[in-house]
Amino acid sequence: MTGCKVKLLEECQNVLEENRRGDFTIPSPFLYPFQWNWDSGFIALGLLHIEPEKALLELETLFSGQWENGFLPHIIFHNAEKYTSYFPSADYWNSKVSRFAPKDLGTSGITQPAVHGFVLEDIIKYDFDKDRIARLYDQIVHYHQYLYEYRQFKDTHLVAIWHNWESGMDNSPWWDSVFKRIHPQLLENIQLKRKDVHAVDDSALTRPTDDDYKRYIYLVDQLRENRYERVPADFPFQVLDPVFNAILIQSNRSLLRIGKMLGKDTSLVESWIKTALENFSSIHWNADDGLFYTFDILANSQVKIHCSGSYIPIFAEIPDRDQLEKLLRHLEAFKDYYLVPSCMPDQPGFESKNYWRGPVWIHMNWMIAEGLRKYQEHEWADRIKNDSVKLVEKYGIREYFEPFKDSNTSIGGKQFSWSAALTIDMLKKQSG
Ligand code: GLC
Repeated sequence: MTGCKVKLLEECQNVLEENRRGDFTIPSPFLYPFQWNWDSGFIALGLLHIEPEKALLELETLFSGQWENGFLPHIIFHNAEKYTSYFPSADYWNSKVSRFAPKDLGTSGITQPAVHGFVLEDIIKYDFDKDRIARLYDQIVHYHQYLYEYRQFKDTHLVAIWHNWESGMDNSPWWDSVFKRIHPQLLENIQLKRKDVHAVDDSALTRPTDDDYKRYIYLVDQLRENRYERVPADFPFQVLDPVFNAILIQSNRSLLRIGKMLGKDTSLVESWIKTALENFSSIHWNADDGLFYTFDILANSQVKIHCSGSYIPIFAEIPDRDQLEKLLRHLEAFKDYYLVPSCMPDQPGFESKNYWRGPVWIHMNWMIAEGLRKYQEHEWADRIKNDSVKLVEKYGIREYFEPFKDSNTSIGGKQFSWSAALTIDMLKKQSG
C-alpha cells in the first residue's frame, strides 16, 4: 500500500473511532447522532478489519431496538435525552403508539434495507461464540418474516416500502411522481424543525427542499396514526424498490448458508429466495430500456428513471448475462464521470450536488462492485472501487460526492462512518 493509502486508512479508522458511542457507531457527529439501521450494517464490515468484536456488537446493539413483531427500525434513539440535534426526534416518532415497540427505548417507526444477513455472513468468518451468531440469525429471520407478513406484494416475496426514508435514498427522483399524489393542501399545517440544513454547507443545493421534507413528515404522521402497523389501501407511498428487494434477496442467500452451518431448518428461507427471484424481473426489469426500475404500486407502473439503484440487483446476482450486458452498456456511456451517480446526468431530476439526485454514494458503489466480481467483471469492479477511493482521497470522508471529474467542492456530511468503513474494506481488499 502506498504512503497516501496508509494515511487514508488511518483517517478512516479515526472516523470510526470518533463516531463510536459505546456499543454502536453513529453515521456522523454533525448530522446523525443516533444509530441508523443500514449504516450500522456497512459500518460493521469496516470494523471487521479493525476489531471484529465491535462489528458483532454493532449488529447486536442495533437489534436491541427490534420490535416484538420482528420489525427493525431505521433509527434507534439511544440516549435520546442527550441529543436534540435531529428532527424528527424520538418524541416525534413516539414509537410507543405501537404495542410491539420496546418499552424503554425510543425508535423510529419505519425500516431500512435488510443488509444484516449478508453482513452476518462476513462476521462469521471470524471466530465468534456460536450462540451469539445463532441469536442474531434468529433475529434477522424474524425481521424478514415481519417484512413478508406486513409488506409482501401479492405472493411475490417482494416487499413494499411505505416511506422514501425506508429506501435509504431519501430524495431520489424515483419518488417524485409518487409524491405528486400528496396534495399541497395536506401539508399546510406541517411544522418543520429541520436540523440537517444547519449542519452542512450549501444546504439549498445539497439537501431536500422544505416542500419535500413536509411530504416526508406527512407520511410519518400518517404512519404514526396507523400505529406503524398496516397502511390503508390508498396510502400514497407504496413502492416496490429494486434496491430494497435485491438486498433482501442477497441477505436471504446468506441466511441460507449460515442457517445450514448452524443446523437450522432453512426450507422457509429457501422458498423466499425462489419466489422472489421468480418475480423480480417481471416487476423491476424493463426490457426496452435494459434497466431495473422502481415500481409504484398505486400507479401499477415502473418509474422509468435511470439511477444507481438500477444496478443494485447485480449485488444479489439477479441479472442474467443478457441483462448484465445491457446494464454495462449503460454504464459505459457515463465513463467520463465518477461512477456511479445516484441519478444519471442525462435524466430528468438530475442535480449534481443534491443528495440522492446525482451525487455518488460509497455504499452503493461497494454493492455494485461486489456484485460485478461475482460475474467475473473485475475491470468494472476495479473501476468503481478505484473511483470510490479516489473520491474519498480527494474530497474527504464525506457522505456523498459530486460525479463531475472537475468538481472543486466537497459536499455532504463530514466524517461519515459508512464511507470510512467501506473505504477501509476496499483498501484492505486491494492490498490483499
Ligand atoms: C440519509 C441517507 C440514508 C442514511 C442516513 C444516515 O438519510 O439517505 O440512507 O441511512 O442518512 O446516514
